[in-house]
Parts: sequence; structure tokens; C-alpha cells
Amino acid sequence: MNTAKQSMVIDNIGSLVTNDPALGRGPLGVIDNAYLVITRGVVDAVGTATGIDGDHSPSADDRIDAQGACVLPGFVDSHTHLVFAGDRAKEFTSRMAGQPYDGGGIRQTTDATRAAHTDELDRLVRLRLLEAHHAGTTTIEIKSGYGLNVVDEARSLDIANKFTDESTFLGAHLVPAEFEGRSDDYVDLVITDMLNAAAPNARWIDAFCEQGAFDVDQSRAVLEAGKAAGLGLRLHGNQLGEGPGVQLAVELGCASVDHCTYLSDSDIEALAASETVATFLPAADFSTRQPYPPARRVVDAGAKVAIASNCNPGSSYTTSISFCIALAVREMGLTIDEAIQAVTIGGAMALGRDDIGRLTPGSAGHAVILDAPSHHHLAYRPGVPLIRTTLGPLGQSSLE
Ligand code: NIG
Repeated sequence: MNTAKQSMVIDNIGSLVTNDPALGRGPLGVIDNAYLVITRGVVDAVGTATGIDGDHSPSADDRIDAQGACVLPGFVDSHTHLVFAGDRAKEFTSRMAGQPYDGGGIRQTTDATRAAHTDELDRLVRLRLLEAHHAGTTTIEIKSGYGLNVVDEARSLDIANKFTDESTFLGAHLVPAEFEGRSDDYVDLVITDMLNAAAPNARWIDAFCEQGAFDVDQSRAVLEAGKAAGLGLRLHGNQLGEGPGVQLAVELGCASVDHCTYLSDSDIEALAASETVATFLPAADFSTRQPYPPARRVVDAGAKVAIASNCNPGSSYTTSISFCIALAVREMGLTIDEAIQAVTIGGAMALGRDDIGRLTPGSAGHAVILDAPSHHHLAYRPGVPLIRTTLGPLGQSSLE
């Protein structure tokens, strides 16, 4: 449904998650028996239905009767790698038989992506976005990173930028085969010609700071060059072991450091003392048989956290934020409320946005109607498709 043109009231809402404690119960600011008015794509009003029969709510051009269901902010998926061709089902199968994940399969996807026609890549991204939309995602970040040369990185970002404002240049994803043994030469290319070609279609720059990918000096060089080109900073760090990623991200003021699977006490302290969001990607830990991040300790320390899908063909081939919520609650020790915050307002923080991830007057009218009376069901009913309706820009006709 297109929410941009008219006013619409969603009423008969069993529980409305606003993400503003001033508006309702608990940390999620839940309003029971609620209505939500969206005018030209922006939240106009939220409140409790009143009247003699207890169900009066404001009028509008359109009405959706939520029939007692829960409504919550659309999911903000702040980490995906949607621009790719091919899949790596064989690699996944071997992993389930005991092979470790080391990121080396990125080269296989790079070969397939370089070989794909632009129309085909465009079609594949569109299909993945529709899948994400049907799963409740209304804002999505999309990285390049399977081109790994000037032409194909620029092409990936051109495609990503058609579908989202949150596109990220990840030329420093892995050293491509033609630069084997010459990683510094590759970094030189990334921070010069590749960055120049990518920057016009990117909001962010990212690097994979990990053993086997880029070391701390190389990652720093990439992020500093991106900053000089006007891009915001993000970093992949601490995915396969403890390492310098988190400390580098904090030092450079990255908006987010993503994975955070292995964290030392000093990493957690640094995150807690910073504005950098720790973004957990539990579906990647699931699909690579890694341990889950120490999320409970990170939240208790007072750090900002987000959870994202990390949809990609290697470590996490899912667009399901509901699946990530269930993992975060069952495996990472977060409460259901904390997990919901992490995929809405947390994702928004990781993207430096305050207009999404909440349903409060003035925020974007991006909402999800569940086939369930409360947000608890997202963890309580794992694997069940509970997203009845997604209202937000990813659903507009550009994708159909
Ligand atoms: O975030 N870690 C690096 N990049 C992706 C995986 C890419 C792949 O294996 O294709 C990630 O997990």
C-alpha cells in the first residue's frame, strides 16, 4: 500500500509499539487498544481509541482495521549485501558437515557477480527486496563488495542506490584473486579510482577488518579515504575472532561496527563509552556455526546495539528479521523488548537516522501489522510468518 498520497488510520490495534516510553507502557511505549494516523507517509497521531463503546478513533481517507493485532515500527535492516549473483549452497552444506567459515567464498560470488548482466543483478536485488518487505523490513542498507574492481563496484552501487538511500561502498571486502599477495596495491586502488567511481552512489564506506581480509592499517586507510570523500563510516569487525575492529571503529567514530561476535572486556568498555552502535548479526553466527555475541554484557554495559540480517550468499542467506529476533532472545540473552528495539530504533541509530524505527508523531509512517496480538509472538512463534502487512517505501510500485 502506498502511504505517501493520503491520510490513513489503522485502528482496532490490540497493542501499538511506538518506541517512545513517554507514549505508553514500558521501554517500547506500548499503547493498548490504539489507533495510528499516517498522513502523506508521516505519522500524524497515535492514541487510545475512546468513546462509549471504546472503539472510536480519528477518521481519515483510508482505514485499516487491525482486528486486535499488534502494530510496530517497520524493521530497519542496517546490514545487507544484496547485490550478488549465484548462491553458495554447497559451501553451506560443507560447513554443516564441519568445514569452518573463513570468508574465502566471497571470491566465488565475485566471479558470479562480475559475470552477471546488469538487468539480471537488478532483478535479483528487486526480488530480495520484495522478500525483505514481505518479512517486515521498511528500511534497508545495501553494500557493494562482490565487484571488487572499479567497474563492478560502481555498477553494484548504481543498482543499490536505485532502491535505497543507505548504500555502502565495500570495495575492501576481500582482496580479489588478481591481487593475490598484493593487498596493499589493492587497497591503493580501493582508496583512489574505486572510491572515486563509487562515492557518487554511496552514503557509507565499510571495510572487512579481519584476519584473511584487511588489517587494521589497511582498514584505517580505507575509512579515512572514505571520510575525506564525504562518506559516513561503518566497519565489519570481530567476526571470526577477537581483533582490532571494534577499537578502530570507536576511534574513528564509525556509526556502527558490525558482527561483534568476539568481544574482549575492553572492546565492551570502548563501545559503552562511545556513540558507535554494536550491530549483531545472529543469522550469520547461526549459519557459520559460530558462537553468539555476548550481547547481554554489551547491553548491560550501556552500549548502543542493533540487530540486522546480514543477508548475503555466504554467511547468512536470510532476509528474515523475525528469525534474528528469535535468535537474539533465545541465544543472546536479550529480552524480547530489547530485541525489538535493536531491529527498529537500534537499526535507525546504526544508520544515523532519527526519522525511522519509531511510530511517534512526525516520524516516517513505516509500520508492520502482525498476525498476532503482541510483539512477544515474534520470539514466541519462531519460524511462523507473522507479518500480515508492511507499510513503507520498500513496498511501493518501484519494486513490483
Ligand atoms: O558480513 N564478513 C564479511 N562479509 C559477509 C560475508 C560475505 C560472504 O561470505 O559472501 C558478512 O558475513
